[in-house]
Amino acid sequence: MKILVTGGAGFIGSNFIRYCFNRSSNYEIINYDKLTYAGNLKNLEEFNNNKRYHFIKGDICNSDLIRQVLNEFSPRYIVNFAAESHVDRSILEPKAFINTNILGTFNLLTEANKYFHNLNDIQKKRFKLLHISTDEVYGSLKENDPAFTEDSKYYPNNPYSASKAGSDHLARSFYQTYKLPVIISNACNNYGPYQSIEKFIPLIIFKATNNKQIPIYGDGKQVRDWLYVEDHCEAIITILEKSNPGEIYNIGGSNEVNNLELLEFICNYIDKKFDIDSKSNKDKSSSLINFIKDRPGHDRRYATNPIKIKEKLGWEAKTSFESGIQKTVDWYLKNKEWIEDQRQNYLNINY
Ligand code: NAD
Ligand code: TYD
Repeated sequence: MKILVTGGAGFIGSNFIRYCFNRSSNYEIINYDKLTYAGNLKNLEEFNNNKRYHFIKGDICNSDLIRQVLNEFSPRYIVNFAAESHVDRSILEPKAFINTNILGTFNLLTEANKYFHNLNDIQKKRFKLLHISTDEVYGSLKENDPAFTEDSKYYPNNPYSASKAGSDHLARSFYQTYKLPVIISNACNNYGPYQSIEKFIPLIIFKATNNKQIPIYGDGKQVRDWLYVEDHCEAIITILEKSNPGEIYNIGGSNEVNNLELLEFICNYIDKKFDIDSKSNKDKSSSLINFIKDRPGHDRRYATNPIKIKEKLGWEAKTSFESGIQKTVDWYLKNKEWIEDQRQNYLNINY
């Protein structure tokens, strides 16, 4: 089964490719990635000699190359992960977010649409394009608001979420207008191996294990719903296999935690691992906490109701927060070279 994965060299995309190859030998994956600072081929080097894995360096804004790749490989599915994904970067330099997330998605949809309408009837029936999006398009919840559903109003508050909202609207419109079999999924915050240390969970692990201060924006009481990345990958495969075109799914982890609790939880696990439990409070990793100026437009709370995907497709998150965090911390501790390589060669900020 051929899947064109865009943005497959990034965090979730590379986990998805690994998940597919571990799941079955039936998958053939074409990874189409621009290799921005967030894309790293080392994430997938174990598949370099796999005949069922193809890498193409390309931008989703490049229509000619997308057309060529679609015609050469004839994929059954397209999964669009390609995006600029970091909120803080979107605040400093929003233009790349508009280019990739909005114009790039538009290009991909346009080429996919031409490709789809040239397929034969059997191929048309099987074809699906899954656009990977985020719960951040719905904006911010108040403390006692119910979690986002697929019917929640779009209310993006920063250039990242606004650009993802724009891409979702375009994706939906291609289904409504051209009958391109598009599905959209809006997932909550992911965590796990291969996530850039510019994101909060890897940042805490990196700072705590290197005795550096851990920056917390504002009062640290912002809430996120955390999903282990492998559970997200399973949800994506479930959607590809079982969903009808035109559907939208919220993928929630049913795991709301505020940033201070999260920091405390990770630091406790790290301290236990290094056996510094019995030492004084000042030696605990959590003493590295450093409250800094809040992020502008910082969304207070996200929470995503996964009831639709559970009832319609039978998926729910399996990994407990405890075991997900343990697996993640253990991975980062075992892969210090990966972090160093990222710090030196990929990130323009000195972490
Ligand atoms: P990431 O930043 O780790 O990876 C993005 C990948 O896309 C990189 O490999 C990058 O090189 C590639 N890319 C960027 N611009 C491109 C372009 N113009 N053409 C081709 N490739 C390009 O991001 P991630 O965290 O893996 O997120 C993947 C997708 O999932 C994004 O669409 C994001 O909005 C969505 N999402 C992420 C989360 C999360 O918590 N990380 C949660 C929900 C949804
Ligand atoms: P992040 O991982 O950037 O994801 P998102 O903004 O998409 O939810 O941030 C998660 C939460 O952690 C968010 O509330 C912002 C906060 N945060 C900090 O407090 N300090 C930091 O250095 C970072 C990167 C994030």
